[in-house]
Amino acid sequence: MCGIVAAVTQRNITNFLINSIKKLEYRGYDSSGLAIIDNRNNIMRIRCVGKVDELIKKTNKKKIFGNIGVAHTRWATHGKVSKENTHPHISSNIVVVHNGIIENHSTLRHFLQKKGYIFSSDTDTEVIAHLLHWEQNKKKDSLKKVIQNSIKKLDGNYSMVIIDQNNPTRLIAARSKSPLIIGLGIEENFIASDQIALLHTTKRFIYLEEGDIAIVEKKNINIFNKDNFTIKRQKIISNIEHKSVEKGQYRHYMEKEIYEQPESIRNTLKNRLKNNNKIFFSELGLKANNIFYNTENIQIVACGTSYNAGMVSRYWFESLANIPCNVEIASEFSSRKLIVRKKSLLITLSQSGETADTLSALRYSKKLGYLGNLTICNMESSSLVKESDFYILTKAGLEIGVASTKSFTTQLTVLLMLVAKIINLKQENNDISKKIIETLNILPIRIEEILKKNTLIKNIANILANKKNMLFLGRGNQYPIAMEGALKLKEISYIHAEAYQSGELKHGPLALIDKNIPVIMIAPKNSLFEKNKKNIKEICSRGGLIYVFSNQEFDYEDNINVIKLPYVEELIAPIFYIIPLQLLAYYIALKKGTDIDQPRHLAKSVTVE
Ligand code: AGP
Repeated sequence: MCGIVAAVTQRNITNFLINSIKKLEYRGYDSSGLAIIDNRNNIMRIRCVGKVDELIKKTNKKKIFGNIGVAHTRWATHGKVSKENTHPHISSNIVVVHNGIIENHSTLRHFLQKKGYIFSSDTDTEVIAHLLHWEQNKKKDSLKKVIQNSIKKLDGNYSMVIIDQNNPTRLIAARSKSPLIIGLGIEENFIASDQIALLHTTKRFIYLEEGDIAIVEKKNINIFNKDNFTIKRQKIISNIEHKSVEKGQYRHYMEKEIYEQPESIRNTLKNRLKNNNKIFFSELGLKANNIFYNTENIQIVACGTSYNAGMVSRYWFESLANIPCNVEIASEFSSRKLIVRKKSLLITLSQSGETADTLSALRYSKKLGYLGNLTICNMESSSLVKESDFYILTKAGLEIGVASTKSFTTQLTVLLMLVAKIINLKQENNDISKKIIETLNILPIRIEEILKKNTLIKNIANILANKKNMLFLGRGNQYPIAMEGALKLKEISYIHAEAYQSGELKHGPLALIDKNIPVIMIAPKNSLFEKNKKNIKEICSRGGLIYVFSNQEFDYEDNINVIKLPYVEELIAPIFYIIPLQLLAYYIALKKGTDIDQPRHLAKSVTVE
């Protein structure tokens, strides 16, 4: 959560900082601020509540000239959303921006108050600023030493950048558990939480690792590892195009990302489906094959949309590969005593690879005796990829809208490929894996076909936009699709939505049915259709308002709204049926005029537990 940008430049820094921090709004957007040491060596700080556009307006009114500064966009953890709590925080000559949570902030606050420090905010970050100042004045050590001494006193996670007015030529960055990246310029250098912020200026990056401290000047970068040894970290050239960070012809990133799904899935499949009916993931080594071959149980751990993808795959692992599969919400997984089943493979799923709950679950699992751990992730440079035994990339491309769309369908694509791969490893030339591969090849075309139904979905969205509550129903592997549809709707339209297994309705939720609560039912033509039909009748006979998403003809006279969708193969039906639900949520939110890409109270990358 929260986005950080810092730079030490040849040019005037103000526009650079605001353009870059704007790109990190997806990490938090309740308030933002910047601090620049100007050409007269004054600390110039501007902070405001609201989105970065407010900061831009305020900054444009002032003429600030300087070559070193920091900026921050906040997702509140400690302290309400207010100007006082907005970063940067300052203690005399020390300026700090921070992403993360300091667990022992209140003990440190009392300690510093006793030393005479007066706090102007409720944040844990101001504690860091005063602690650094106190350490600096205690021994007159170098700022690097001061930071090393101070972070020994911090419990929790942090990525931070510090500037010192008394030496305004360098930025100092410290990384623990939240990502930080250095961007390399020509006689100028930058720091950010994510390369997206810097792509407009550079494609050359260095990723800091756990415990690293970096001193970044215009012409020099020195990195020290957690043992204080100078260390060279690898430089990478990003292959992300700057234009992929733009919305192009679309109104919202979410809309763009929904329509990008055929292409994202093609990229995910590319060079991985082989003519000999084998699946090849270049990022996996032979050791992974050995682990997959020996796997007798699978434990999936994830959050939000990624959890829903895991839930779909449970049906595939069990019904197609005969492997028992458990799926658990990451925050629950790491907060209870676990019994690990024999020869279990742990799989984490994540778009960002930085979700703190999922990372904690992975770290916790390492003590529990799993056969190995695999992450399926969209970000190659992420902590989850770095800390996992093996990884497979989803190749969705950058996803900026807070509501996950193409990351979900590409996760499902990878999971289905993984099912086929494991079947292949365990039984040569299996017909099921052959069928999976054939069907996956058709998937992008099927998604293109359903995206053409957008007008149909838009019309329904216009009818439903004024509703206060909705129910989503699905059966079998369409139940997690109902969960994902409900999550999309509540996340971006703020309409309360719940998902149930169709068969569970009669055990309680049926009491909610009336003409004001639309029921969205996913009922494709499959072996479960007759059971779903009975549920549809139960709803109709109680005067319910029902919208059925199906490719099946309905031959009876009930008062139901059927959204007739094109044909799809049963194997890939879950990946197909989420598309109309993504569109439904999008068009409802569009009609309501909510902030689709940055819904209230949320952030794209949830780096706090
Ligand atoms: C879904 O639309 C949300 N943005 C959210 O539930 C998300 O899927 C969750 O926070 C997990 O994120 P991750 O995939 O990056 O780990």
